[in-house]
Amino acid sequence: MNTKERIDFLRSEIENHNYSYYILDTPLISDFEFDNLMSELISLEENHPEFFSDHSPTKKVGGGLIDNFESVRHIYPMLSLSNTYSFEDLKDFDDRIKKIIDIPFEYVCELKFDGVSISLTYEDGKLLRAVTRGDGEQGDDVTLNIKTIRSIPLNLMGDYPDRFEIRGEVFLSIEDFKEMNISRLSKGLEEYANPRNTASGSLKLLDSNEVYKRPLDCFLYYILGENLPSNKHFTNINNAKKWGFKISDKIMLKSDIFGVMEYINFWEEERHNLPFEIDGIVVKVNDIDIQDELGYTSKFPRWAISYKFKAEQVSTKLNSITYQVGRTGAITPVANLDPVSLAGTTVKRASLHNADQIKRLDIREGDIVYVEKGGEIIPKVVGVDIKKRTLFSIETDFIDNCPECNTELVRTDGDAKHYCLNSNDCFPQIVGRFEHFISRKAMNIDGLGSETIELLVKEGLITDFSDLYLLSREHLLPLDRIAERSADNLISGIRESKKIPFERVLFSLGIRFVGETVARKLADYYKDIEHIINASLEELIQIDEIGDKIAESVVNYFSNNENREIVYKLRQYGLKFISEKSEMLLSDKLNDKRIVVSGVFINYSRNEIKKLIISHGGKNVSSISKNTNFVIAGDNMGPSKKQKANDLGVTILSEDEFIKIIS
Ligand code: IVH
Repeated sequence: MNTKERIDFLRSEIENHNYSYYILDTPLISDFEFDNLMSELISLEENHPEFFSDHSPTKKVGGGLIDNFESVRHIYPMLSLSNTYSFEDLKDFDDRIKKIIDIPFEYVCELKFDGVSISLTYEDGKLLRAVTRGDGEQGDDVTLNIKTIRSIPLNLMGDYPDRFEIRGEVFLSIEDFKEMNISRLSKGLEEYANPRNTASGSLKLLDSNEVYKRPLDCFLYYILGENLPSNKHFTNINNAKKWGFKISDKIMLKSDIFGVMEYINFWEEERHNLPFEIDGIVVKVNDIDIQDELGYTSKFPRWAISYKFKAEQVSTKLNSITYQVGRTGAITPVANLDPVSLAGTTVKRASLHNADQIKRLDIREGDIVYVEKGGEIIPKVVGVDIKKRTLFSIETDFIDNCPECNTELVRTDGDAKHYCLNSNDCFPQIVGRFEHFISRKAMNIDGLGSETIELLVKEGLITDFSDLYLLSREHLLPLDRIAERSADNLISGIRESKKIPFERVLFSLGIRFVGETVARKLADYYKDIEHIINASLEELIQIDEIGDKIAESVVNYFSNNENREIVYKLRQYGLKFISEKSEMLLSDKLNDKRIVVSGVFINYSRNEIKKLIISHGGKNVSSISKNTNFVIAGDNMGPSKKQKANDLGVTILSEDEFIKIIS
């Protein structure tokens, strides 16, 4: 055997042993023998740099220092799941699906691992890249660190797709976490708070040799790609096991929501016997075509949900209730607490949500309250220990006036929150609007932070967004804390923001209920702010995935003269209020045609069909009316929709006919 052959042999032997040890849990050789193979390979590779490989198992021991993690945009956004805490919610989830899908379907039940999510890209069987979730749209490239995780394969086995992404959760087992802490204590270091935060912190270390020393592990649970072996999630994920991934053997297929409930009941108890922490159960529709048919809300898939186990609770004293004003004028009551340790962090403040919540739980200053950390980052008060209440306690009276500007608060029917409507003169609202405007997903203005905004507002230099674009060095330099360099940075950051595309400018305006997704939908549909300003309620509601609440809010916003003025000024200063996507149009064959998409398709997913419509100049609308130009009907278009299309004389196109038109 020559050197190259010996190196190849060792690499493949070591990979097989890694697989047997970390994935199958059945070691075939002793640790000593394994270490010998590894040492031999390391020394051969050192002496023969000509046989270097980025995917050698020796890369698992760490690849050195990194300056900074590169930010990478996800091809498929990394969404999270909507959370439920009751079987009632779970039943609602099932009912919602059945309203759309009238054929039988199955659920896949999985453990919800409590760790850090990661997305791995494989090309030709090799790990290409590992990216953290980040903000869901883009994350950090942590490939070097991920390569050190023993259970993540660098090279795949068997019959894998050419290119795919696989997502999972990096975690620390309870036992390994304990051992890490024992070792830290023995070195006089402070203990780590919990396995989850420690796993997350480990991935962000800049020295991958250090990451190698942490016993990180990883379960994979979601595959994305064009050429997956099956259109069933359960089959794909079990195939991934054969390619070398660590897939939980607790995943189960259930034929209905009652089966799902049995699974949950079982794990509610059994989870305490697992060697790692889980915080719930994830339920997914098995059939990927049905997943596509159900699609996504702006934040979550409609085809999956997480059932969360009851969160950890502690009790502490509520010293006072104060009130916060958000950028929309919404008032949030906040509990100021005696500091208490909860799920690894010290909690001093917790949300009280709204007046109804305070009333329902009869929460009073001086009470001993129960605090819980749910899915949200901010902990909440969930109850009162009435037995510990003192005789002198006084029922809480929700404030009548804004704590910041003293304007009388308003609460409209159907709204849980009180609002301060003095949006133009109430300080935290003004600052909050600017904070939203400059934030990364909005205008992304570098060099401008909350403190500077507060300063600029206080000094009267900015009152509405357009004022930002008139700021000059002369305005900024006399101000405290603004040196020449920061002034220049700020001004260039503001200038740069004029390049931000229309859809994000629209999002930046902070119109209620117009988040990133809705802003994109509106920009795609109307292409010019002028058309949005003039849109009627009825017209807006027609747009795919735009409901009454959003439509009303948009109409309200633009019916206000001042808002229109601000938009016109911004436009005059060079911000983009026209969609430039038209340059990216494939054709104008569907120019301004209003199209409804219904049913399941063979060659394309529903979302792909919708994208095709837009890229050929058409518009997606949600329901059939006399203004609809045509309906593209897939396999199981609902009978009532069909009837309506026929009644109104709207043409129904098959998938093939549609493709013929645009090709
Ligand atoms: S599937 C679009 N499956 O929970 C669906 N997620 O709240 C993508 N998680 O971001 C997620 N175990 O970090 C899925 N078996 C599992 C999971 C799981 C844990 C995490 C994941 C995700 C979060 C959602």
